[in-house]
This record gives sequence, structure tokens and C-alpha cells, in this order.
Amino acid sequence: MSNQSKPNLLDSHNRRLNYLRISITDRCNLNCMYCAPQQFIPKLRHKDILRYEEILRLVRIGVNLGITKIRVTGGEPLVRKGVYEFLQLLSEIDGISDLSLTTNGILLKENIDRIKSAGIKRINISLDTIYKKKYEKITGFDMFDQVWEGILLAKEAGFDPIKINAVVLTGINDDELTDLAKLSISHPFHIRFIEYMPIGNPRMNYCRHMLTPEIKQRISVLGDLIPVENNTYDGPSQRFKFKGAKGEIGFISPISRHFCDKCNRLRLTANGYLRSCLLSDNQEDLKGPIRKGCLDSDLVDIITRTAYHKPAHHNILLNEQSGVTDQMFSIGG
Ligand code: 5AD
Repeated sequence: MSNQSKPNLLDSHNRRLNYLRISITDRCNLNCMYCAPQQFIPKLRHKDILRYEEILRLVRIGVNLGITKIRVTGGEPLVRKGVYEFLQLLSEIDGISDLSLTTNGILLKENIDRIKSAGIKRINISLDTIYKKKYEKITGFDMFDQVWEGILLAKEAGFDPIKINAVVLTGINDDELTDLAKLSISHPFHIRFIEYMPIGNPRMNYCRHMLTPEIKQRISVLGDLIPVENNTYDGPSQRFKFKGAKGEIGFISPISRHFCDKCNRLRLTANGYLRSCLLSDNQEDLKGPIRKGCLDSDLVDIITRTAYHKPAHHNILLNEQSGVTDQMFSIGG
């Protein structure tokens, strides 16, 4: 069946949902201040996370409903055993036109060839600072060099584009926004500045966020930000380029310029819930029905119902807890 003849997964606000983000694990090899929770939260037990074959079944059903774009995320997806074989199977599913991965980059260096041969073409890497000491402060681990080497190897291996995600935090990395932005001049990287979202119960104070207009203003000392036309895979990022730069700058502004009216995403959590909005704890269980032996048609019903009830928009306000109690590392960033 061609994509054109597939049904569209529509919500009640007439948005077409064609993008599924899959968190394959809640585990991570870093402990970032904006993600790791204040109190101990036990990790999911192995039996509580979706098995790969369960995820693949759901993806096949999703693709038949009109999903064309998949991102694999976590936690840190590369810490899950068998991930490369899983990515390979995922890339073999007919009807997925865009398969990508979000990683913290710790395991990139030694696995770049496996990621490539598994069929991944685009990767997003989280990197909030270019300073070793600060990297350790933010993530809890002295791993900057390893990540940076991984990023350079990814470039050599031909991944394109390589997007680098930096969550901007006042008093933490706001003093190096121009340094981060300069990476887009010297390297073909897309440096994306992300507004911090108050999700879960992180170790960090909520008032640390900085909004896009200020970030933009700070980096504009480097030159004019020339708008770049968006393409279908851009999602919510507003793209720009400095004159003569090899790469680009992107701004992801879930708070100051929320993109809910264009949101096309569904999220599958590590423990098998389908969530239609990152910023709402409403979610529907898929794992339970799957393990009770339900039919594909039952899963179709759950997916279409969840999609239909996607909230019109989120309600996060500045300097407030969002009310989202689930943690980013289990929902998937
Ligand atoms: N707010 C904004 N971005 C976040 N990320 C993780 N937690 C948050 C948060 N609370 C980012 C990660 C990753 C991307 C998918 O989401 O840095 O790069």
C-alpha cells in the first residue's frame, strides 16, 4: 500500500499524526541535572518494558495507520541490549520514510558503524556544553571527549544532518551560547537551542530556563541569522544560518512559541503506553492488551482513540511545575 492510500491518523483538531517517537528504555548512562529526578525512582524491570518484537508489531500497525516517521529515543537508547539488531529490523519495515535516533553520544564512538549499517541516517546528539568540566557538572560524568569524538566520527561516517541539542539553562550554560553557536560555522552541524521544559521532578530549579528571544539575541553578536526554509522533517525547529556557515542554528521553543497546532507526534513510552502529548500525563496502555493476547484490530482502536484525544495544546507556564509527573527519561525526550 503506498503512503497516499493509507488512512491518516487524525486527531479531533484535524492534525495528522504521522510521527512516532519510541522510548526503548528508561535507563541512561548519564545523570543530567535537568532530567535525573531528585528522589530515587526505581528503574523499570525488564519484564515491564516493551520487548522489541512488541514494539515492531506496534510500529507495523502504526505504519498502516499512516505513521511515516520514527525516532528511537530513551533514556539512552544505545544502552539497551540488542538495540542494533532492533534498529535493523525497524529500518526494514516498509513505509517508514524517516528513521532517526536521539542519543547522548556516549556510545557513538565505538558503535558508529553498527548504527550506520542498521539503516539510521540521521542522528540527534544531546550536548549542552563544549567545556569538559561543565559537561561533568551537568551530566555527572567526565565524558565530554568521548562524546565529541563520537560526533566527529559520525560526521566522517556521513550522517547528515547531525543535530546537536543543547538545553539552555541560565547560570549553567548561558555563558557559552556563542561558543555553541560557532560550532555551526566551523562544522556542518545543526546546533539546536532548546527551551527547558519543567517535566517530572528534576534536581534542578525550575527558574533556570531561558527563552528563545534572549538566546537569539545573545548569539546574534556572531552575525545575522539568515532564515532557512523548513522541510518536512524539521518538526518544530525554527532554522537559521550564519553567512558562510557550514551548518545551521535551530531554536526549539516549546514555551515561548509553542508548536502545538502543528504537532504531529505520538510517543510510545518504554513501559508500553501511548502518549499523545509530552506535556500531559494522559496515556493509554498498549502493553497490557498485547500481553493478554489482543488482536491487531484492538491495538488499532487504542492507537486511533489516543490519537483522536490528543490535547489541543499544552498548558505549561513559565517558572511553574508543568504538572507532568512522569519523567522525561521514561517518556522519551
Ligand atoms: N526540557 C527540554 N529539553 C529536554 N531534553 C531532555 N529533558 C529536557 C527538558 N526537561 C532534551 C534532551 C534531548 C532532547 C530530545 O530533549 O537534551 O536532546
